[in-house]
Amino acid sequence: FSLKNYNTFGIEAKARQFVAVHSVEELKRVLEENKNEKKFILGGGSNMLLTKDIDALVIHIDLKGKNIIKEDDDFVWVESQAGEVWHNFVLYTIENNFGGLENMSLIPGNVGTTPVQNIGAYGTEIKDTFVSCEAMNITTQEVKTFTNAECNFGYRESIFKNEVKDQYIITSVIFKLTRRNHKINTSYGDILAELSKNNITKPTLKDVSNAVIAIRQSKLPDPKELGNSGSFFKNPIVLKSDFEKIHQKFPEMKYYEVSETEVKVPAGWLIEQAGFKGKRFGDAGVHKNQALVLVNYGNATGQEILAVSKEVQKTVFETFGIHIEAEVNVI
Ligand code: EPU
Repeated sequence: FSLKNYNTFGIEAKARQFVAVHSVEELKRVLEENKNEKKFILGGGSNMLLTKDIDALVIHIDLKGKNIIKEDDDFVWVESQAGEVWHNFVLYTIENNFGGLENMSLIPGNVGTTPVQNIGAYGTEIKDTFVSCEAMNITTQEVKTFTNAECNFGYRESIFKNEVKDQYIITSVIFKLTRRNHKINTSYGDILAELSKNNITKPTLKDVSNAVIAIRQSKLPDPKELGNSGSFFKNPIVLKSDFEKIHQKFPEMKYYEVSETEVKVPAGWLIEQAGFKGKRFGDAGVHKNQALVLVNYGNATGQEILAVSKEVQKTVFETFGIHIEAEVNVI
């Protein structure tokens, strides 16, 4: 079974067996019936690089539906099933004037995978509105609720990438969103610039969402046209004491303070300075408008993309002494 249409990198890789599940009951049954099979869980396929065929039963999580669980004058608790396309869910919240997700418009992937890496953009992360999620234990089929605190969210991190990695399948997520007094977040410079271009001074949720969409479309390739997985690398976090030495050598290096002792450096900047922006190696390459994104021009293999990523990591390390880590799951 070809997985080419199930990963946004558009990599040709085969699954030994494939099944799509559309309900929690169906998921439970498939897990019970395949107790001794090797299993591979597939959501939106937007944050992975397939470097080989998958010698396992691939279970595609395709649970659909969203509903309002409760509301008061100020807030609404909205639940979405894991298989909803994230951006469609965001648009649904905006149409209903529910605030909190607008800065994360147009992020590829499905709702069920957003907690895994605590997706974020333009000053917001899902941990800011995430209440809880339900997840099924792959071995026992027990369903467990993980609260926000239990998820141990960090920058592109959660319990699902660490302590309980590969043990659970997220089946639904609940967000607490505002119904009024929305906390419009335009702290991110690009958003303000985009809004003022359109003479918007008091932005609505829709205005912010439109601004984010315009910014993303200007820098990030559409996976339907050019295979990619968004940011391939994380922005590295560097100890201030180390950073000071590096910064003396490269005074133009950008950085953001993240704690008393650490700064975050934009990997896109490092990669661009290392000379990779827009570079192409066969069908694999570094995107021309955003160096943090690796792209598949058509028929690149996962191994070819991986080789480019290693070359980028190596050169960035040799140039700046900073290690950049992949954000995408390499399989
Ligand atoms: N930069 C360059 N050259 C580049 C790209 C970026 O010099 O080719 C510099 C920019 O000038 C800017 C800085 O790097 O000063 C940061 O760039 P940008 O604002 O585009 O954001 P980013 O750090 O590259 C992160 C997230 C994105 C998210 C944006 C906006 C990570 C790994 N990536 O990117 O998330 O959309 O901020 O908030 O944190 C994703 O995770 O897949 C993703 C796209």
